[in-house]
Amino acid sequence: MPWKQSSAITEAEKVTTYQTVAGRVDALLEDESDWVAAMATVVCELHQAFEYYDWTGFYRTIGEELVIGPYQGTHGCLRIAFGRGVCGTAAAQRATQVVPDVDAFPGHIACSSTTRSEIVVPVLSRDGDVMGVLDIDSNRPAAFDTVDQQFLERLCTDLGRRYG
Ligand code: SME
Repeated sequence: MPWKQSSAITEAEKVTTYQTVAGRVDALLEDESDWVAAMATVVCELHQAFEYYDWTGFYRTIGEELVIGPYQGTHGCLRIAFGRGVCGTAAAQRATQVVPDVDAFPGHIACSSTTRSEIVVPVLSRDGDVMGVLDIDSNRPAAFDTVDQQFLERLCTDLGRRYG
């Protein structure tokens, strides 16, 4: 597969790339029981696969805050309160946030001035606790659609069942 998809990625290429990433993640994590190792591996695989991913990382729930976990990209905010920004909203509402234009999202936390759009998916444990969120930011407007959402939600559901 073309590693790091080119900017003009089609929906079909997107699906194929996500399927390839899913296969690689499954194989890499087959015998891995450690949650940090799993997050680091997922972030690496996703970030390398798509050119429109400019910041890819997990925030972990610690108390009533999200604290930075494994990521790739420039510096992310270290702590985000539940309910704040896109990440805090996803955690508080326990629901994926797809933001095509970050400037139109009230309270968006601009850790990088180049970010134009993002998707944040919560990771729920088997008991239904929010273990954290997967945050992906793009320097392109409206970079994420339902294909991204479906794949990333499936991935986070699997991670929550396995490591939660
Ligand atoms: N996009 C996030 C902030 C986190 S960092 O920029 C990586 C938000 O508004 O929640």
